[in-house]
Amino acid sequence: MSRISYVNGRYLPHNQASVHIEDRGYQFGDGVYEVVLVLDKKLVDFALHYKRLRRSLDEISLVFDTTETTIKQILKRLIRSNLINDGLIYMQVTRGVAERAHQFPKNAAPSLVVTAKSIIINAEVEGKKAITTVDERWERRDIKTINLLPNCIAKQKAIENDAYEAIMVMEDGTISEGASSNLWMVNGDNQIITRNASNVILNGITKLALTTLADIHCYKVVEKPFTVDEAINAKELFVTSATAIVTPITQLNNHVIADGKVGPISAALRSSYLERAF
Ligand SMILES: Cc1ncc(COP(=O)(O)O)c(C=O)c1O
Repeated sequence: MSRISYVNGRYLPHNQASVHIEDRGYQFGDGVYEVVLVLDKKLVDFALHYKRLRRSLDEISLVFDTTETTIKQILKRLIRSNLINDGLIYMQVTRGVAERAHQFPKNAAPSLVVTAKSIIINAEVEGKKAITTVDERWERRDIKTINLLPNCIAKQKAIENDAYEAIMVMEDGTISEGASSNLWMVNGDNQIITRNASNVILNGITKLALTTLADIHCYKVVEKPFTVDEAINAKELFVTSATAIVTPITQLNNHVIADGKVGPISAALRSSYLERAF
């Protein structure tokens, strides 16, 4: 069975799904996106993803006249037609096709592209290695833009170092986030620390959901910046994203975190996130 994808009103076999070469997403990275987790055929935290998509669109002044209900229907149809049980939905809105010029075109219609794929989700995952790298991105990392070149370079560096994630470090020595995730640490007082929302990170939907979950489990979450040194000396480290869910990091560069095993808080948060999501 061929994968089915959505492009501007049409459901097409994945290998025939395409946009014009002068789409501004292709030429300028002029667009925004969301990745939504699907568990047991259901969209996880769709309303929060839609809200962030709307915010990203507003921040780049991209007028996109499509309702939440319409988008949800498209996503649900793709879940059905791709026979997805657990998976990921990718949706991207760009400023559309226009003759190449930097300024925003006056009459271009935005392009909406949605793809869906199945993934295998395990309740338990092994601890992963991460590396640190310099955060070379622009100052509006709160916008989920498709401009991801620095993130791609960082992730490639991680892969070349047999690591799962690249943790990006800012000029002041604090960690912003992962190349495609938010970073969390558990300190000696069992406080769970993750960076506060601001323009220097993408405020993850998984991060938002996990903050509420941690609260329910009576863990204390503190939102503030932390350094590489603090991360290395943490009791536990983990990253979150729609794809990673909660993935423990047991090695940062050459430093083993605590005893090198997956910590109890990371494991508990991952399983309770999955239970809640179902
Ligand atoms: C740079 C960055 N930070 C954080 C996240 C986590 O966001 P979410 O939990 O919404 O997937 C992502 C996800 O792709 C990301 O790319």
